[in-house]
This record gives sequence, C-alpha cells and structure tokens, in this order.
Amino acid sequence: MTTTPFPDGFLWGGATAANQIEGAYDEDGKGLSVQDVMPQGISGPRSNQPTPDNLKHVAIDHYHRYAEDIALFAEMGFGVYRFSIAWSRIFPKGDETEPNEAGLAFYDRILDELEKHGIEPLVTISHYETPLHLAEQYGGWTNRALIGFYERYARTLFERFGSRVTYWLTFNEINSLLHAPFMSGGIPIPEGGVPEQQLYQAMHHELVASARATRIAREVAPAAKVGCMVLSMPVYPLTPSPDDALAVMDADHGNLVYGDVHTRGAYPGYFLRTLREKGIELDITDEDRDDLTNTVDFVSFSYYMSIAETADPAKRVTGEGNIMGGVSNPTLPASEWGWQIDPVGLRLVLNQFWDRWQKPLFIVENGLGARDQLVEVDGEKTVVDDYRIAYLNDHLVQVGEALEDGVDVLGYTSWGCIDIVSASTAQLSKRYGFIYVDRNDDGTGTLKRYRKKSFGWYADVIRSNGASL
Ligand code: BG6
Repeated sequence: MTTTPFPDGFLWGGATAANQIEGAYDEDGKGLSVQDVMPQGISGPRSNQPTPDNLKHVAIDHYHRYAEDIALFAEMGFGVYRFSIAWSRIFPKGDETEPNEAGLAFYDRILDELEKHGIEPLVTISHYETPLHLAEQYGGWTNRALIGFYERYARTLFERFGSRVTYWLTFNEINSLLHAPFMSGGIPIPEGGVPEQQLYQAMHHELVASARATRIAREVAPAAKVGCMVLSMPVYPLTPSPDDALAVMDADHGNLVYGDVHTRGAYPGYFLRTLREKGIELDITDEDRDDLTNTVDFVSFSYYMSIAETADPAKRVTGEGNIMGGVSNPTLPASEWGWQIDPVGLRLVLNQFWDRWQKPLFIVENGLGARDQLVEVDGEKTVVDDYRIAYLNDHLVQVGEALEDGVDVLGYTSWGCIDIVSASTAQLSKRYGFIYVDRNDDGTGTLKRYRKKSFGWYADVIRSNGASL
C-alpha cells in the first residue's frame, strides 16, 4: 500500500486573480482599477488611462469562458479554487454607497459553476486591484477613508456570498505594500518615491481594514474562516557571521510583522522600535487598537523563492525576485526570470510560521513561471513541461516533510493553474498553468485552451492525495 503524509480532506487546487484572468475590464459596469493603467506590470511606467497594449484588458477572457475553465479544473480533481473578486466590478469607483448588481451576479455565476463541480471557493477580497478612482482621488491606502470603503465592500461580499464561501483572504500579499505601493496599495508614486511616513500609515490602514473585515465576517457570516495572506520569503545568512544573522533577523522582522499583527492582534516591540528609529509616528486610534484584536483563523501565503541577506554592503549583490527580491544565494539555481528555486525553503517557511503563530496554514500560491512550447503529441496539441512538473513535485515533497514535522496545512493552490497575465512583467509568455492558453505577448492568439503534460501529472497527485509524488 502506498502511504502519503497528506491528511484526508487536504484541499488541492489552483489560484488566480481577477485582473490577471478575467479581461472584460470595462464590461457590465466595471470601473477601472490600478491594473488598467499598468500595461507593463510593476516595473514599467504606468499610463494615464487604459491603453490598447494592456494585456489584462482581455487577459484570457475568463469572464466569458469561466465555465470551460472551471470544468477543466474539475477534470484535474480540484477540491478548491482560489480567485479574487475585482473590487471595481462591485464598487466601480470604490466610494459609492450601493454596489453594482451586475458585478455581484458574475461572481454568483462563478460560485454556481464551482458548486456544480463540488469545488470549494477560496476568495481573495483585494488582489492588487484597488479601484483607480481611490488611487487618484484619495491617494490610495495612505488615506484613512479607504478603511471605510473597504469595510463596505467586504460587508457586501460577506452578505451576498457568506453562505456559499467559507474561506476568505483579506489582502493579497499584504507585506508587498512598502515595495510596490501603487499596485499593492493604490498609492500614486511621486518623483523621489512615497515618503516612508505615508507608507507605514498606509500599512496601518490596511491592517485595521483587514481586522475589521474579520470582525464583520464573524457577525454576518459566522461560518466563514478568514485568513491573512503574506508573501513568504525565507532569508538565509550569506555567511555564518553574527552580523549577517542579525541582517537576517531584521529582514525577517520586516516580513513577519504582518503575520504577527494578524495572529496576535497588536504591533510587536521590534516594529515599534523600527518606527521610533525612523522617527515615524503613526496615527493609531483607540478604535484601531480594538479592531486589530480581531485575529485571523488561518494564515495563507505565497511561496516562490528564498533570498540571502548580508550586513556587508560590498556583498549585497541583489538578484531578480518576487516583488521584494534580495541578495542572490550562490547555492541555488534560478528560473528564466531569475527567481531562485528552493523547495526546501517551503518546508522551512511552513515550520517557521507554524512554530511562530500556531495557526493552520494555507499555501495559496506556488509555481514556476516558464516559457512553454506548444507541440503536437499523438495528434493532440500540448506542452511537455517536465520542468514545471519537477518544480512542483519537489515543492510538494517538502510540504509532505512539513506535514511529517507536525505542521498543520489546510491545502495547496498552485499559482496560475491556467496561464494568465503575469503581475510583475504583464507578460503572457511567463506561464504557470497546467492549461496552456493560446494568447501571446503581442495580444495575438485564439484563446483556445490545451492541457499540458503537467495537467495529467497534477490530476494523479490529487487522485492519490500526494502518494504519487
Ligand atoms: C504573486 C502575486 O506575487 O506572484 C501574483 O500574488 C503573481 O499576482 C505571482 O502573479 C507571480 O508573479 P508573476 O510576476 O510571475 O506573475
């Protein structure tokens, strides 16, 4: 008999985000989001208005093809599907008092389809999709008013979908805010950058909004389980010197503070010290402090890579990376986009989070962005993506190790389970999916879907509950 460390009921599936998959950027009353003026992703300049070169405007046309896509997920045996709701479909400008019914109705249709196939939804409330109006008129999350707008939006979702959705995530990769303020927090970036005081105030506003959403979910949808979502990034010392170990501690603190607040309900001492030393005084009200005590039910996170850290400026050779990047680790290989590949890092981060927070964990993003070649095998078009299978297999083996270590893991949703537009570079050629979508970086293509080799591989993993790894 084959054994598996994965428990019964482990939730296997995939993940996407509205702005990267849906398209239909101005249909059925949808307003613009920050993504509609980011034709080149995080690194490129933003546009003043939507431009025809923005691939996300059509993305992979999931808005019209969701039924076909969800049927393919079901064919792989998904038990869970993570998707985000586009805030500007529900509140087109963000500051209205009444929601857009056509937007809500679209997500009803998605939920109908998931229910038909017995797939559990996992909903991200805000995934890098702040309504553009809130960015331009209010300065995004630097403005306290955003807490109220988000609260109304979250309440609307809990009231409408609370009886159909158990798992909710408040903000995607909330710890990316200081690194990608416009994409992550709708904060316009002036020449010279956003002042740190404003960035930290925005961080506080998001943390309060997240905790308020948790409080509202408890009232409106008592069966809901609310999680935070952080970008995980294990940090290794470049050398064994104590100074490098301290540099690691500082880098870790910069990331862990978000999970600390979400699980403990207050700011940790090391963070208050950082603020003191930077001369930053945050506007924190008594109500804010009270809100923050609404802690999460579980912690979810993305994992793509680890980094190294050093105290020696001469050795700070930074590599490419997932929004924050860091010092390159000379012992690790990298993807075609320079993201370092480190399956063991996933086991380490699972153990670190579990030891620290003792909350169930959900791996809601992991995967390999790679250039795929569509070929014909036995008369069928496919991609022979053995590199992706190897990447995912190696990472899932480490999830199994963490389960053996006693870590409580609820599930695993691989990122971009169907090819979508990349967040950092806005390319379609950076593909993560088990399903190939015929659309190219220049916008050409039929949008037809094809099963890659990894499609069958993942179906086997799910069917055997990880025994085939
Ligand atoms: C995460 C984001 O940072 O990484 C996703 O939550 C993103 O939205 C994913 O797509 C992969 O990054 P990229 O840039 O390769 O799309």
